[in-house]
Amino acid sequence: MDDQELMRQVNRRKTFAIISHPDAGKTTLTEKLLLYGGAIQMAGSVKARRARQHAVSDWMEIEKERGISVTSSVMQFPYRGFQLNLLDTPGHQDFGEDTYRTLHAADCAIMLIDNNKGVEAQTRKLFEVCRRRRTPIFTFVNKCDRLGRDPFEIVDEVEQVLGIRCIPSTWPVRSFSGFKGVYDRMHQRVVTFESGLDHGASRVETHEMELNDAALDTLVGEEAAKQAREEVELLDGASGQFDLAAFNRGELSPVFFGSAMNNFGVEPFLDEFIRIGPTPAPRIAGDKVIDPVENVFRAFVFKIQANMDRAHRDRLAFMRIVSGRFERGMRVWHVREEREIRLNSPQVTMAQERVQVDEAFAGDVIGIIDPGMFQIGDTLTEGERVAFEGIPRFSPEHFTRLRLKDPLKRKQLQQGLQQLALEGTVQVFHKAGMTEKDAYLGAVGQLQFEVFKHRMATEYRVEVILDALPYSVCRWVQGDLAAAQKVAKFRDGALLEDHLDRPLVLLHSERDAAWAEREVPDAKLTPVA
Ligand code: G4P
Repeated sequence: MDDQELMRQVNRRKTFAIISHPDAGKTTLTEKLLLYGGAIQMAGSVKARRARQHAVSDWMEIEKERGISVTSSVMQFPYRGFQLNLLDTPGHQDFGEDTYRTLHAADCAIMLIDNNKGVEAQTRKLFEVCRRRRTPIFTFVNKCDRLGRDPFEIVDEVEQVLGIRCIPSTWPVRSFSGFKGVYDRMHQRVVTFESGLDHGASRVETHEMELNDAALDTLVGEEAAKQAREEVELLDGASGQFDLAAFNRGELSPVFFGSAMNNFGVEPFLDEFIRIGPTPAPRIAGDKVIDPVENVFRAFVFKIQANMDRAHRDRLAFMRIVSGRFERGMRVWHVREEREIRLNSPQVTMAQERVQVDEAFAGDVIGIIDPGMFQIGDTLTEGERVAFEGIPRFSPEHFTRLRLKDPLKRKQLQQGLQQLALEGTVQVFHKAGMTEKDAYLGAVGQLQFEVFKHRMATEYRVEVILDALPYSVCRWVQGDLAAAQKVAKFRDGALLEDHLDRPLVLLHSERDAAWAEREVPDAKLTPVA
């Protein structure tokens, strides 16, 4: 492939994730993005969704049972000549490390906010991960069809709570009877929406007009039109200019208003998203910066998932392509294993379907059937044998101790532990020198333990009992082990090792961790392994 064509392909790709608190409408918005991308014909209406008990991105049995999305998946869809890759992240309040790692593979994020609830706990956590990586963030204020809080107040809250500058890109136009449209500041036009009769299952009819058009008064009433004009004037006077460079550094977020349920505001958002959303970003490998348009295939594994397809019981390793072009069956260098491998059977998810891919480009994510040769963070490369920086392990906040119901099942337990730890479902710890039957588990979200138990029972036929432990903070020890022992002793903590035998302490609270930092600095405790 010539360099020109590679550049064209890479530059039409945008890879992103949606971050939000449960119930803000992520599943609904995901469906609507697929609808506007033409990847699905009709979005399942809310009622139909409830009947199905799961949305398009849900796979595993437990998800269907609960009607929630536990594991992240990847969806690819076109929009106005662009190729959008949506990395789906779990929406339940108990989310896992998997979510964090998925953000590592995205180039930007859409932060979805409920117009009534504002910035919620999980949004804040996910935002912090994005901030650490300086990920550009779009803000979408959802559910504007309902009377929510004042839009100025919501924008102010995002700025104050998250400490990011906000510039509204659209602004809601409301009448007494509800949400009528948005003012698009970039194009200086009002886009009004007409409610369809199908509860948002198909695209919404829109009309465009000038802000001063008398038709606006007719449509929303004189009072509401006057208010919209005043608010826009206030905005123009008060909020600064949109600064693309600051957005790309993750310091400024454009804000959009809409209703995912009714499709209001989705299209103006998508149009701006493809205009300013970043193309695949360069990534660092050792002392090199890898340019996505370099004609050498390079990728890293960010997620491993087993048994998504119950009929096949296979295991997929998801890799983010960082540079160059991927071709089915190509031979690449597996850096950690120091050998050449063939990449067979690549798959992507197009809307509901998993399909085979013959080629893919920097920015894309592909799933490769994995016979057990991949680990999270692995680099695959052509040409020079560089390795991407590893994906950090995030500090778990919930801990349990594992007991086996049937002691004869130790072999299966060991297998399951190894696999599920590799996928990042849970982190597995042990006391130094102890065997696997004394495993301790750590997870970012409580639900991960249930997923773990469920998968142990269904996939490995092992019943386990998990006893909750009273710790909530985990710190890896980078300094003196004796000092770490002292911390564990004085704060009633536990000194353990992770799966790579790296020492860590579990503590009861952040206050204990702060105490350790102050009083026992030699232990050099860190929250990320
Ligand atoms: P999540 O994935 O972020 O958890 O949220 P999801 O899309 O499942 O939406 C959560 C609830 O919010 C759903 O209602 C959904 O219909 C509603 N919702 C999503 N977008 C909008 C919107 O723009 N406006 C309004 N008014 N509601 C919205 P539910 O009653 O919890 O579920 P369901 O039984 O209706 O599916």
